[in-house]
Amino acid sequence: SVDQPACVVWITGMSGAGKSTCANALADRLRSSSYRVEVLDGDAIRERLSKGLTYSREDRNENIRRIGFVAELLSRNGVIVIVAAISPYRQARAEVRARIPNFLEVYAHCPLDVLIQRDAKGLYKRALAGEIAHFTGINDPYEPPQAPEVTIDSSTDSIEQGVDRIWTALQRQGVGV
Ligand code: ADX
Repeated sequence: SVDQPACVVWITGMSGAGKSTCANALADRLRSSSYRVEVLDGDAIRERLSKGLTYSREDRNENIRRIGFVAELLSRNGVIVIVAAISPYRQARAEVRARIPNFLEVYAHCPLDVLIQRDAKGLYKRALAGEIAHFTGINDPYEPPQAPEVTIDSSTDSIEQGVDRIWTALQRQGVGV
């Protein structure tokens, strides 16, 4: 495969905003260009690496530190890492960013009313009914990035448009010519 620079694309945003969809579409495109890629997805990570962690601030930040650590190991070995995790706290994201060269923060934004309407996993309905404590965006905080390299919005952009936007930012960092 091609000689590639280290890079971590960190997609943050609320549940259902399109992080995983975008991560997988970007991964497919990068693989088509012969890049080695790993996707670290919050749902899978919580099953395999962070099992038992809750959704408290402390545990979410621990989750982010673990994902950041794996991303660091992979990326310094030439794997392009795409992270899809809510990662709601600014400070925790900043700590990960500080450790990783070529860190690209992508804000997967989507208006809350659209997320509630979409509700693919039925979690917003349950959270609004008071059945889930600490649900991000409903009764738990989400701190949006203040200066993300890229913002995507699944309520207005297609998946392709989102991927294009990230692709352009990657090219600026010397990836994906
Ligand atoms: S993070 O906050 O620690 O970054 P992560 O991305 O790993 O979150 O996991 C989020 C996923 O867990 C959501 O997509 C959702 O399916 C599920 N989930 C279960 N409980 C919650 C909750 N209280 N808040 C947010 N997501 C939850």
